[in-house]
Amino acid sequence: MPAAREDADEWAPLGPGGAVGEGEAKGFVLGDRGGPKVILVRRGGVLHAYLDACPHHGGTPMAWRTNAYLSGDGAHLCCHSHNALFDIETGKCVLGPCLGQSLTSVAIREEDGIVLARL
Ligand code: FES
Repeated sequence: MPAAREDADEWAPLGPGGAVGEGEAKGFVLGDRGGPKVILVRRGGVLHAYLDACPHHGGTPMAWRTNAYLSGDGAHLCCHSHNALFDIETGKCVLGPCLGQSLTSVAIREEDGIVLARL
């Protein structure tokens, strides 16, 4: 049986939830040890979190410049490498070369205004 990760139940800080306004998406590095980058996106007042890793090509970063995670109309998350569009609420690809695949959802909670995430 594989050993369980020691930190499997640890929540690590992502960033201030207030930094992501309605209809915005921003990327944050998880924790203080150079963890993976996580996208926070707010829609309808709800924060959603996904790994910044496109399922089309082995986890390619999604943005073409800092925090450019949304499609031009702001309706979807977008991987700008091949213009795949992802549903903000579910992370599922709705258009593009990874149609039907999904971004990896990340568990989050907010504590004293700081978003914590657990992989
Ligand atoms: S790497 Fe994301 S759509 Fe191709």
